[in-house]
Amino acid sequence: MDASILWNLNWKFCEGFSESYLYEDAPGAKTVHLPHTVKELPLSCFSHSATAMISTYGKILDVTPSMEGQRIFLTFDGVMTYFELFVNGVLAGEHKGGYSRSQFDITGLCHSGQNRVTVRVDSHEREDIPPFGYAIDYLTFGGIYRDVWLDICSQTAITQVLARYELTQDQALVSPELILDHQGAPILADAEVIIRDMDGNTVCTYEDALSIQPGRHNLSLRQEALSNPILWNPDSPYLYTVEISLKAEEKLLDRHRVKTGFRKVDCRHDGLFINGTRWKIMGLNRHQSFPYVGYAMGKRAQEKDADILKDFLGINAVRTSHYMQSEYFLNRCDEIGLLVFSEIPGWGHIGGEEFKQVMLQDVESMIVTQYNHPSIFIWSVRINESLDDDALYQKANDLAHRLDSSRPTTGVRYISDSHLLEDVYSLNDFTYSDCDPEGVKLFRGRKEATGQNDPVPFLISEFAGTAFPTKLWDTAYKRTVHARAYARIFSQSNLSPEMLGIFGWCAFDYNTHGDYGSGDKICYHGVMDMFRIPKYAAYLLRSQKDPEEAIVMEATTEFSRGDNQGNKLSAPFMVLTNCDYVEIEMYGRAPVRYYPDSRYIGLAHPPIEVEEEIGVWQDLWQDGQITGYYKGQPVATKKFLRDSFLDDLEVTADDASLWGDCVDATRIVCRVKDSAHTTLVYYHGVIQVQTQGNIQVIGPEVIPIHGGYAAFWVKTRPEAFAGETEAASVTITLPGTAVETKVIPIELTPSGWSIR
Ligand code: GAL
Repeated sequence: MDASILWNLNWKFCEGFSESYLYEDAPGAKTVHLPHTVKELPLSCFSHSATAMISTYGKILDVTPSMEGQRIFLTFDGVMTYFELFVNGVLAGEHKGGYSRSQFDITGLCHSGQNRVTVRVDSHEREDIPPFGYAIDYLTFGGIYRDVWLDICSQTAITQVLARYELTQDQALVSPELILDHQGAPILADAEVIIRDMDGNTVCTYEDALSIQPGRHNLSLRQEALSNPILWNPDSPYLYTVEISLKAEEKLLDRHRVKTGFRKVDCRHDGLFINGTRWKIMGLNRHQSFPYVGYAMGKRAQEKDADILKDFLGINAVRTSHYMQSEYFLNRCDEIGLLVFSEIPGWGHIGGEEFKQVMLQDVESMIVTQYNHPSIFIWSVRINESLDDDALYQKANDLAHRLDSSRPTTGVRYISDSHLLEDVYSLNDFTYSDCDPEGVKLFRGRKEATGQNDPVPFLISEFAGTAFPTKLWDTAYKRTVHARAYARIFSQSNLSPEMLGIFGWCAFDYNTHGDYGSGDKICYHGVMDMFRIPKYAAYLLRSQKDPEEAIVMEATTEFSRGDNQGNKLSAPFMVLTNCDYVEIEMYGRAPVRYYPDSRYIGLAHPPIEVEEEIGVWQDLWQDGQITGYYKGQPVATKKFLRDSFLDDLEVTADDASLWGDCVDATRIVCRVKDSAHTTLVYYHGVIQVQTQGNIQVIGPEVIPIHGGYAAFWVKTRPEAFAGETEAASVTITLPGTAVETKVIPIELTPSGWSIR
């Protein structure tokens, strides 16, 4: 579909539903924009049923004379969890499943002039829809939380293109498959295919003659060779655009563009190979939730998460636990070369017949909507950690292979000896825990896990998690144990030839049900908190980066004398670094050199362990300093002050400019620090935020500081945007202190997209 209009603005929303809302706005309905959540939540300590409700969204569709005779489609990228769509009071369709896309042809229900579109949303945890029916360790929120698109097209619409191809030695044999929706008598049409490289140059063009029958169906175009394609791989994520134009009698019927990359994936017992090169997975699981608004965060925040995973944390893979994630997130993974393990919704429980049907529909939806993403290297087609159900999982696996023969399948278990119906055996393994941080057994081996004598492709899809819950403001000891778990496990995984690799649980803390987490509706299992603030484990990952790209040096200590495990005065702690060695001056002692620790030999940059204790209890404490050396040169310095006190508030915005005409958001991170730039992890206080111009804070404007940080997102107010570039700003104060007020300017610009 060539000219999709983002149909996100000015919906009328209310809780509840009544027949009359099909014909007029509910009394007191509020104007809202998408993405939207049915209820904003506090950060923690709320009822896990707060977003379970029926609600109504309404919007007027103006059918102008230029649209008459055209077809009108509405596409919903994600509505949690079930909805019915009405046009002018008549049911146009329904959709089950909060993570799958749905599309409706509403032409027949529209008339010229104003048409009322009403969406009745059910965000209860319905047992006929995965992941519901029993317990789940995450919240799913509610509402139209992804984009809605309006498409006006001719009688022949290309609703989707699967850019299928095969790779030979030096060619990509391309044969796109179209999903067409045609109304009227059969027609003959020509499909013109144009493939463009990243500079926009046409590198392949050809035509195919098609006979198009009425209805919705798939048509494959003939194969054509693209010579010497530049292959996609995580280090060099090269993308092409495939454009298909359908023409009949010299008239353009429809045009559709998709991005893709050419690459070959093999998951073998001896590793994951991309274009023949072996990649060891060092990955994390990601939940797509954010503070206060749950899933309702748009393009920029989704892309930023991918950047955080790849650029900040330096990992090479992400698992979309436990559902299909935003198209924006996946697009960004394609662009930056972050491998994706894509999974259907579900958690532990297999429901009745209707549940199973929706599960199979999810498998199909995942593969069809995500097919073109080169970053996706595997489909996970079992409900996470469910028991075997061979009849169901054979169907899911067959369906996945029928829809996509180019990618392997897997399914995530926690049990050993499960029937392996898919190509890869994935196991969540929490063998190693903080009850026994010195423990030698880190995870089950392949044979023990799979119960198979023959080597089968095997990976660990989760570790750490509940075994190492960690808060940003826990003691340094606890945060160190968490980081050390990552060091030990990733090191061991890298040394193990029998694993494709391993994913940590998880990237970011997340809101959850009362059955899980810390009793405050938060699971503190992330290497970053809900605001994506790094814990020590995050620096362990980041320190694996090539020092030529970024020097990393983070010590896992507050450098205090009375806050250590086991009545220790100063140690032990780790220095998470990619420096060759560090020198530590402590307690007035001359600098002592420490080297990467040989216990983590599987890591590119093993952490440094400082285990000796320095100092005498009744003596004065002293300033300290750590200096990192790379290639013989000092490249990083960290000072610790004996008399450390609040000096300043450091404020950083992820973006200086936002799109004013849609709901766009950026994150602002504030950090309290002393004059040596050390984070004051145990500082108690709040920040006060005020906005100027057409932006507003998401969540409260008085924000407690946790672990030395207070972060928040500001979002635009498109209803107030006049269309020209304008200025806005955010003012942040630290009340009751002498710290200087900070002002962050944010420019608002038009996006240039077609938005309504
Ligand atoms: C796993 C589960 C995850 C998360 C994790 C916490 O069993 O798959 O979703 O709950 O435990 O450790």
